[in-house]
Amino acid sequence: MPPPEPVIIGHATLYLGDCLELLELLPALRGVDAVVTDPPYGIGYVHNGGGRGLVSGKTNLRPIHGDDRPFDPAPWLAVAGDKPILLWCADHYKTRLPASGRFLCWDKSCGQGAADNFVDAEFAWTNRKNARCIYRHFWKGAMRAGEDAPSRSGRVHPSQKPVELMRWCLDVARVGLGKTVLDPYMGGGSTGVACVTSGRKFVGVEIDPDYFAIACRRIEAAQR
Ligand SMILES: C[S@@+](CC[C@H](N)C(=O)[O-])C[C@H]1O[C@@H](n2cnc3c(N)ncnc32)[C@H](O)[C@@H]1O
Repeated sequence: MPPPEPVIIGHATLYLGDCLELLELLPALRGVDAVVTDPPYGIGYVHNGGGRGLVSGKTNLRPIHGDDRPFDPAPWLAVAGDKPILLWCADHYKTRLPASGRFLCWDKSCGQGAADNFVDAEFAWTNRKNARCIYRHFWKGAMRAGEDAPSRSGRVHPSQKPVELMRWCLDVARVGLGKTVLDPYMGGGSTGVACVTSGRKFVGVEIDPDYFAIACRRIEAAQR
């Protein structure tokens, strides 16, 4: 089977498809300089608003593709090798990660703690050693700071990460300017926007056509 044609937007190359299949079809994916991604976590999350992420089957809302089974980071650890890799929500699959490296914390309540049902922190893992490991950026349901505030680009994906957070990730993982970053689970494209607005090249893959279209639109707007 031939690989699908990518959508190329400036320094971003975007594929609609299954990243594990593409990894077999496109040897070039293994040549990227870094892997920065926010995969399905294997928790069966279905967005239901109000901070009450419910398990699949309890609502009519669309579940995240692949979230119904444990995430295996092995293929992406192999792609990265000694190069930078940063994986979000790594606490859900920490037993499948190397013992080395370190955890990073996104403090979503900005030091206020949890006074409601919303998750107040998320954790990533990286193979880079770095003194910085906490990032504060307010994000509570639809209430959001920065570029993704409702008055700007707003809410595009149930597991959306702030663009500012993803730019911080690129710096913490020490991804050099001009380097190429792979996000095999790009969702609404926050990693791609962070790359093209900070001087990095980007390769993204998304299996869901609706999220893929949103990522294309956001990355194109960011590049303009
Ligand atoms: C946690 S979300 C990423 C959200 C993203 N960080 C953002 O800010 O919008 C994971 C994404 O991976 C996609 N996905 C799941 N399995 C996939 C696969 N095998 N290949 C490509 N994309 C996949 C899902 O459709 C979902 O959009």
